[in-house]
Amino acid sequence: MNAFDKIIGYSAIKRELRQISDTLKNKDVYARLGVSAPKGLLLYGEPGVGKSLMASAVIEDSGRKVFTCRKDKPNGDFVKEIKATFDKAAENAPSIVYLDDMDKFTNGDEYHPDAEEYVTVQSCIDEVKGKQVFVLATANNIRCLPHSLQRAGRFDRKIEVFAPRGKDAEKIIAHYLKDKKFVDGVDARTIARIIDGRSCAELETVINEAGLYAGFERAEAITMDHFMEACLRTIYNVPAGTDDDYDDDCEEEYEITQQKNLLEDSTKFLSQIVYHEAGHAVVSEILCPESVTLVSAHNRGGGNGGFVRYYKDPGFAHLYWSKSRIISALGGAAAIEQKYGIFGTGCGYDLDIAFDRTRDLVVNDCVCGLHLHKNKSMCGDSQHLWSEQEQAVSAEIEKYYRKAKEIISLNMDFCEKVAAALAKQRLLSAVDIKRIKSECKITSVAL
Ligand SMILES: Nc1ncnc2c1ncn2[C@@H]1O[C@H](COP(=O)(O)OP(=O)(O)OP(=O)(O)O)[C@@H](O)[C@H]1O
Ligand SMILES: [Mg+2]
Repeated sequence: MNAFDKIIGYSAIKRELRQISDTLKNKDVYARLGVSAPKGLLLYGEPGVGKSLMASAVIEDSGRKVFTCRKDKPNGDFVKEIKATFDKAAENAPSIVYLDDMDKFTNGDEYHPDAEEYVTVQSCIDEVKGKQVFVLATANNIRCLPHSLQRAGRFDRKIEVFAPRGKDAEKIIAHYLKDKKFVDGVDARTIARIIDGRSCAELETVINEAGLYAGFERAEAITMDHFMEACLRTIYNVPAGTDDDYDDDCEEEYEITQQKNLLEDSTKFLSQIVYHEAGHAVVSEILCPESVTLVSAHNRGGGNGGFVRYYKDPGFAHLYWSKSRIISALGGAAAIEQKYGIFGTGCGYDLDIAFDRTRDLVVNDCVCGLHLHKNKSMCGDSQHLWSEQEQAVSAEIEKYYRKAKEIISLNMDFCEKVAAALAKQRLLSAVDIKRIKSECKITSVAL
């Protein structure tokens, strides 16, 4: 097994890492061309995206001796440790100095261009120049690092590592599913859509957590429900025991409220939450099939309702997707109005999203005409333009809300079934939504 095989996905980054490692192993090839190997590589990005894994693959593949420096104790000897690491690397050249989590070398998270630790790293890099010492560093936040330290000649290559998306996320999930006992029918694609954009560490953890839930239940295999449970806790930070936040009788309340067909206390009842979330989900599914990955009626960290997660298939055009996000955001209020004849409270957050996105469409995508675009270099009094933009935003929002209501009223059966399932299960996955949808008469609506 090649050192780079441990890195699943990330083919473009792997190609670059292989190339860097080749320069370290085959110095003569490059010397014949009159060029020298890069002096340093800085891998940076969010926590858990695989920077250390990538660094270790380069180290292993290069076959060079490595001298690691990582801040593991907050004492004043760290500067000495940095110097000693570089000295040892120079004595044992050709070698690699590995500075793991370099942005943690100082005591703060701020930009400290004069911090002793960075000044030391910089001067050590300069001292080992020409001695066949390659400097490999990782960092979460390169804004903490002085620009002079990051410049070409010190770190010739800088690679930003993002959380895996789409096919890459799918491959990593398939890798982690391989040795787990999941029930048939649970596939990497479905899971990838639910947790798209999360770090590799989160993907790994959530799949393992699902197994822990299954084990605690003494189940024979891990089910989609275990996985969804793990998602809620690990990724969406839904506190354990959230069900207690509702009245014990909430399912009964759901029935009663259905019978009365009105809301007496709009935030109290589960019924409002389930219709609200069902509204978001139904609008999104009608406009963008297979876009809903998770619908939850659980509170998220003290919030007042549930939430819906969407997946953007790359096939959806930017403008179509943006408009459908706004209409889906208004779908919660539209479902409450359709069901109870009132504009439900608790839609403030959705309205903020809808207004912000619509403003973006009006001002940047010019959906209402080029004259409403605000050029960045524009100066002076733009009060007139601003008021014209706001009028256009309001008119657009009204149009989108009418569209959300049209979608809900034409697909009320779908909405009712999603709401009922949500009241019962509290959590629906893409698999549940697909099943419910197949049982309903669906009416498509054009945008
Ligand atoms: N491409 C990948 N394929 C499979 N597993 C991966 C991949 N990238 C990372 N992982 C796994 O995810 C976990 C986190 O990776 P790693 O420690 O390299 O992240 P990191 O970016 O260095 O995080 P931090 O910034 O917190 O140091 C590890 O268990 C690692 O094996
Ligand atoms: Mg790391």
